[in-house]
Amino acid sequence: MKYILGNWKMNGLCEETAVLAHEIALQPVHQSTNVIIFPPFTSIHIAKKELSGSKIALGAQDVSPEREGAFTGDISASMLKESGCKYVLVGHSERRLLHGENNEIVRKKATGAIANGLKPVICVGENLAERESGNYLQIIRDQVTHSLPSLTHSDSYLIAYEPVWAIGSGKTPTIRQITEVHKTIASLLYRDKSVAGETAITPILYGGSVKATNAREILSSEGVDGVLVGGASLKADEFCKIINSADGAGN
Ligand code: PGA
Repeated sequence: MKYILGNWKMNGLCEETAVLAHEIALQPVHQSTNVIIFPPFTSIHIAKKELSGSKIALGAQDVSPEREGAFTGDISASMLKESGCKYVLVGHSERRLLHGENNEIVRKKATGAIANGLKPVICVGENLAERESGNYLQIIRDQVTHSLPSLTHSDSYLIAYEPVWAIGSGKTPTIRQITEVHKTIASLLYRDKSVAGETAITPILYGGSVKATNAREILSSEGVDGVLVGGASLKADEFCKIINSADGAGN
């Protein structure tokens, strides 16, 4: 199973959303591919209408860690569920950086999302200074250890490795760099010997400057269960090519 996720970020009024979601909904999706799009909150209802009857699922870009109450501007997991979302991004680097979200908040959001029947996509990744310090694997281990609801393999969440220096920059890590981090994350989840040898069930995705031209190579790499696409998911033809590249990219 491969996952192709489209994070639209803060882009698209309702009319643009309708056109983009409509075009993506026309794309045939292989039975072993999961496609999920993450529109802004205000366009979720439009995307839901356009995607109805298709195999494409909906997610939101963030969720409150709180259940309900006096949290002006926030959106709860149950509200997202009611809007038709099955997934939610938590701990995206733009949230961590621009909104001061730390691992503890990310963990609370992920836990609350699961309790309300949503699957969180928990994002982790090092910035350029951390990569250049050589200490990036330890930084990612710390993020994973403290952002996950529990440090074990589970199909109730997904993990997205997104090196901050690759997001929106056009720079992608080498396949070796991607697989090194994916293996490190997997070894944390499967460190418990009692589960060793079982089929991996927590999907680990890669994100950061994924395009139609590099998607197949990334998706075919060892330990990569899917991609989280930002900029390239805003162009229907480009995103549909990425969806197609999952076909035959291995399991
Ligand atoms: P990008 O964004 O594909 O535009 O680099 C990825 C992301 O932020 O999820």
